[in-house]
Amino acid sequence: MQPTATMLDAKVPRYTSYPTAPHFHSGLGPENARQWISALSADKPVSLYLHIPFCDRLCWFCACHTKQTLRYEPVSAYLQVLHAEIAGVGRLLDGRVPVGAIHLGGGSPTMLRPNDLITLSQCLRNAFQVLPDADISIEIDPNDMDEQRLDALASFGMTRASLGIQDFDPRVQKAINRLQSFEQTAYVVDGARARSIDSVNLDLLYGLPHQTVESATSTLRRALQLAPDRMALFGYAHVPWMKKHQTQIKDEWLPDGPERYAQAQVVRTLALEAGYQAIGIDHFALPSDALTLASQQGRLRRNFQGYSADRCDTIIGLGPSAISQFDQGYLQNAPATGDYTRRIIGEGFATVRGVALTHDDRVRRWMIEKLMCDFRFSRAEAFNRFGTAADNMMSQAMQIAETETGSLCEWRSDHFEVTDTGRPFVRLIAARFDAYFTAPAGRHSAVV
Ligand SMILES: C[S@@+](CC[C@H](N)C(=O)[O-])C[C@H]1O[C@@H](n2cnc3c(N)ncnc32)[C@H](O)[C@@H]1O
Ligand code: SF4
Repeated sequence: MQPTATMLDAKVPRYTSYPTAPHFHSGLGPENARQWISALSADKPVSLYLHIPFCDRLCWFCACHTKQTLRYEPVSAYLQVLHAEIAGVGRLLDGRVPVGAIHLGGGSPTMLRPNDLITLSQCLRNAFQVLPDADISIEIDPNDMDEQRLDALASFGMTRASLGIQDFDPRVQKAINRLQSFEQTAYVVDGARARSIDSVNLDLLYGLPHQTVESATSTLRRALQLAPDRMALFGYAHVPWMKKHQTQIKDEWLPDGPERYAQAQVVRTLALEAGYQAIGIDHFALPSDALTLASQQGRLRRNFQGYSADRCDTIIGLGPSAISQFDQGYLQNAPATGDYTRRIIGEGFATVRGVALTHDDRVRRWMIEKLMCDFRFSRAEAFNRFGTAADNMMSQAMQIAETETGSLCEWRSDHFEVTDTGRPFVRLIAARFDAYFTAPAGRHSAVV
């Protein structure tokens, strides 16, 4: 089946949480953070997410929460506050709850000076009981990297290097204000592996300005020469109403819906031919990678960092804009670094919004996460988890499968399943289970 223009032009959430972040509200604050952290159980490790909201360059395509700074003083000042937040959460946990995973994202964590990276690692280990086999992944802007930073990341205990590439075509790089040579990228991959950091993830984008099926193919082929363990092949999210600098990218430079779809299909085919397994909607991993194993064993998770093999149910977000995920719901820190700083200094926590989950939210969250990870959910498992509260949802699922005309999904004996045709459009299907979704025009990124 050829996708229709309506399907290709649809704008739906990326479902890295449910309810999605626009539905967080200001009714939750520091008291919830204190209570929810204090209630964590000692036998379940947690994950930490640390946000570094600075970059030394600003790429026009970027939708991340970051600010360009060419001076290091704001970064040093910010790190003092981040240390205070880490120490505060550490005191609440009092070494009771182990940390099983740490993710450093941004922005650009690699903007930190080597000494600051090492001090941050010590601060985390002073505050928390970081497990010896903790999964530690760090987002790397390859242009920042040199021998000292590679050494510092190794000392940090990094187990996965996650490098941003986006595209190697000079014309595309110029249009997105991100010049990055293949040689510099290869230098970082080789440097990480030489320091026994065995897992390498590469981020690539399709749907960028001036990109074509041929240029996307050529970029993917070059990326494959680096033999990554994982790749994220994201569709470029053009959201200039949220990110002003994206207006530097002219609409007429962007591939249209069918061209984006063709690019997505070709990079996917190439990755599969190269021996990678498709994980969820936009990740590819070697058969031996933890993400593939998690996917095969039905324990793949989706959270704000994308797809994860992390076994921890709780994520504590630290830094401006960082989102925490608890059994009770989600909490988000103040996005602006100044506001975040004042709140941490004033009250120790910077939580400004969030959402507490209702029982209905929990059932829908599980169904949507299952769809985004496994493209299916079973009635038996829903009943096991939620009892008769799952009844309504299962009737709704059957109804969706029956009335769906585009053969995107079906009901099979006891489970709801997205068909192969439907997989690229799973976000559209997930939106059917989203009780908050109202399809506001132009507020989300393109479905493919
Ligand atoms: C925090 S950023 C990258 C880390 C590092 N600063 C770098 O530039 O390499 C994480 C990833 O988000 C993805 N990303 C950023 N903006 C995006 C957008 N508008 N659409 C899709 N993906 C985007 C990029 O692939 C990027 O590598
Ligand atoms: S892509 Fe990375 S380096 Fe570029 S602006 Fe975004 S976070 Fe900064």
